[in-house]
Amino acid sequence: MSTELLLQQLSERNSEPIELNQPMELAQLATPALVLDRGLMLDNMRKMATHVQDHNKSFRPHSKTHKCPTIAHMQIEQGAVGVCAAKLSEAAVMLAAGVESILLTSPLATVQKAQGLNALLQQHPDHKLHLVVDSKEGMEVLRQSIDADQQLGLLVDIDLSMGRTGTRDVETMLWLIDAMARDQRFNFAGIQHYAGHLMHIPDYAKRKDKSLASWSRLDDFFSALEGRGIHCDIVTGGGTGTYDVDVAVDRITDLQVGSYIFMDEEYRVLASAGDDRFEDFALALTVACSTISQPQAKTITVDGGYKAFASDSVNPVCDELPGVEFRFAGDEHGVLILGEGQQEVKLGQVHRFAVPHCDPTVNLHDFYWVLEEDGLIHSCWPITGRGCSW
Ligand SMILES: Cc1ncc(COP(=O)(O)O)c(C=O)c1O
Repeated sequence: MSTELLLQQLSERNSEPIELNQPMELAQLATPALVLDRGLMLDNMRKMATHVQDHNKSFRPHSKTHKCPTIAHMQIEQGAVGVCAAKLSEAAVMLAAGVESILLTSPLATVQKAQGLNALLQQHPDHKLHLVVDSKEGMEVLRQSIDADQQLGLLVDIDLSMGRTGTRDVETMLWLIDAMARDQRFNFAGIQHYAGHLMHIPDYAKRKDKSLASWSRLDDFFSALEGRGIHCDIVTGGGTGTYDVDVAVDRITDLQVGSYIFMDEEYRVLASAGDDRFEDFALALTVACSTISQPQAKTITVDGGYKAFASDSVNPVCDELPGVEFRFAGDEHGVLILGEGQQEVKLGQVHRFAVPHCDPTVNLHDFYWVLEEDGLIHSCWPITGRGCSW
C-alpha cells in the first residue's frame, strides 16, 4: 500500500519546464542553484549520438544522472533506444512523463517492489519496460508476484569483478533463462554487464585494457548461450569513462552512458584518449554559489556545502577563478582559499563551480536553471526524480 501511495504521489509531480516571465542574470539566482548550460549539454548529446552511430551501436542513456523527463525525451529524440532507470521510483517518474522504453538496471528482489511494479505496469499499459534479474530468489519473487496479464523482457545481469549486482555464475544465468522460458509472462531479452569500478581509472590505457578484458571475460557466458542456440537481442553496459572503448566490443548493442551530458570534476581529472584531462564532453552543469562572508583576508565563504554538492572524492572547482581552491565547510558552506592576486573575489558575487559528482549532486536540487546562449536564464526544468532512490 505504501508503495502505491508513493507511486501516486510521484505521478502527480510536475515534469514540464517552467518559462520565466523575464530572463534572469546568473547574479539574480537564489543560490546555491544548479545551472545547466543547454547549448553545451546539446553538444554533448549530439557528440555521443554521432559517436555510437558511427560505430553501429545504440545507446540507452542512464536517467539516474539527470532524473529529468525533459532531458530523457531529448535523448530519445537524438536516437537513444530508450533510457535506463536505477530504481522503480525513477522509472515511475519517467513513465508518468511519457518515456515508455525503460531498462531498470537494478534487480528487484522483494515482493514489496514487485507489487509496486505491478501497480506501475497497470497504470502504464503501453510501457516497454525491461528488468534485470541476477538470482534465483529474485526470479522466484517475480514469478510469485507479477500479474498474470503482464509481459516483461528480462535481462540477466552479470558481474565479473565489481561486486555490486549481477551473477558470476553461468549455471545461474542458464537457470534464470530456463525459468523465463517456462513462464509466458517473461521473455529473455539479453545481458547487462556494467563494470562501474573501471570508469574512473585515471590512466586511459589502463582503463581501456581493463574494460576490454572485462567484456572478453564474458565469453564463457556467451559460449554457454550459443551452445544452446539462445540469442541475445540486447547486450548493454558501459559508461562515460569507457564510451570510446566499449564500442569496439562486437557483442555490445548499446551503451548505458550517463554523465556525458553534464560532466563533473571526477571525470574531468582523468586522462582521455588524446589528453591528460577528460574533456571530450563539455562541462554543462555547475552549481552557482554566492560569496557571503569573509572572516579572514585569504579566504572567502560561499553559500554552498554538502547540501549543494555531493562529493565522494574531489572538491568543486571554479573554472573562472583559476588557482582558487574550494574546501567544504559544512552542510551549507564552502570556503574558497584565495591565492596571491585573487583580490578580485569579493563579497556578494556569484560564481559557478564544477560539481564533484554529477548524479548525486542533481539529487540535491529541485530545478535546473537553464542558461541559454545569450548568457541569461530563461527557464527552469524540474528534477522530477529528485529523491527517487527506492
Ligand atoms: C548500471 C549503470 N549503468 C550506467 C551508468 C552510467 O555511468 P556514467 O555516469 O559513468 O556514464 C551507471 C552509473 O553509475 C550505472 O550504475
